[in-house]
Amino acid sequence: MNLIITDNYEEMSQEGAKMILRKILSSKQINLGLATGSTPLGLYKELVKYVRENNINLSGVVTFNLDEYIGILPTHQGSFHYYMEKNVFGPLNIPENQRFIPDGMAENILNECRNYEKKIQQYGGIDFQLLGVGENGHIGFNEPGTDFTKTTHVVELTETTRQANKKFFGQVEDVPGKAITMGISTILRAREILLIANGVHKAEAIYQLFHGEYSKDWPVTALQKHKNVCVIVDQEAASLLIKQNNLCY
Ligand code: F6R
Repeated sequence: MNLIITDNYEEMSQEGAKMILRKILSSKQINLGLATGSTPLGLYKELVKYVRENNINLSGVVTFNLDEYIGILPTHQGSFHYYMEKNVFGPLNIPENQRFIPDGMAENILNECRNYEKKIQQYGGIDFQLLGVGENGHIGFNEPGTDFTKTTHVVELTETTRQANKKFFGQVEDVPGKAITMGISTILRAREILLIANGVHKAEAIYQLFHGEYSKDWPVTALQKHKNVCVIVDQEAASLLIKQNNLCY
């Protein structure tokens, strides 16, 4: 795993955006796996800025989001559809046929999970996957205890995750209890992975990623078995690594 420690959130966002931009520029066709949440907001802002300033052609870019809540409309301000439209698809002008997010309002949710997984494969798989990480080590919405062999599936969100996401809903009671998420097996099939994290509340998850035992208790440790992972974190998220004084990644 490659590790880059930046001075702050802004620098983490810039480095991440540059990496994605380099990928876009170096391939005619690229399938990007994208995350939502607070962490990538700065990265998306930077990406939008570079793309607009340099008039980058995105006609070869197809995006697949990691997850979506079950039971809220795409127009709901807490939904990942809404988040993506506002922060990425709208500003980057990505046409509808080049972007995919699981449909949390589908009549048959299990079919939706199967079809989403199939769609990723039909498009040739994900070339570059962007990830954030939950305080409890979840990636996508794969909460602790999730089997690493799972593909896209339905999850029950933990209280910690619902608390962390209430910022997008106002109050925790309004955060849906279930979501569709790419599974860890789906994520691990991506050819390249970039994980970003900032803040001291992510330090334990980052510590587990590098030094923890490969275990379902910390879903992020699944990445230990992937051959092409880059991790960009700010000083705070790296604080437990730095304390260990063994920065030899
Ligand atoms: C988002 C996702 C989640 C978040 C994680 C961190 O699509 O799949 O794994 O990356 O919950 O969220 P933030 O960035 O809000 O701390």
